[in-house]
Amino acid sequence: MTQSPEFEPQIVAFCCLHCAYAAADLAGGSRCGYPSSIKIVAVPCTGRVDSVHLVKTLEDGADGVMVAGCLPGRCHFQTGNLHAKQRVDHVRELLEEIGLEPERVRMVNVSAGMGVQFAENAKDMSETIAALGPNPLRVPKSQASTTDAALEGTN
Ligand code: FES
Repeated sequence: MTQSPEFEPQIVAFCCLHCAYAAADLAGGSRCGYPSSIKIVAVPCTGRVDSVHLVKTLEDGADGVMVAGCLPGRCHFQTGNLHAKQRVDHVRELLEEIGLEPERVRMVNVSAGMGVQFAENAKDMSETIAALGPNPLRVPKSQASTTDAALEGTN
């Protein structure tokens, strides 16, 4: 799919405070930066990220969602990253069922010292989403304001 050159994918990355958040910080502070359109959301463990958070993030307009947790076997809460992976896989299946690209959601695992790998994953995610194009679930701003006004009128 060919996209307009001004399309900059908006990606939300749920990052575990114990590993991926530090890796993102390391990447940002070194020469291996990642696209500024990737917004980091710190979570205590990826096990706290529920399927509904992933779907809601897409509904709210993100073009892609990345969940970044500790390396397998290194989760500070034992199995949080394993549960997160199951949820990511589940949401990918749901997206496919409704005709959306499952690639819009992905799980990655990094340690706190893997800033380069975090940046590589973030860049790869951004390129993947850029090739897919804007999230079709996103509500256009003009429509959103009309919808918001309508909802305010009901209160
Ligand atoms: Fe990092 Fe669970 S503490 S993924």
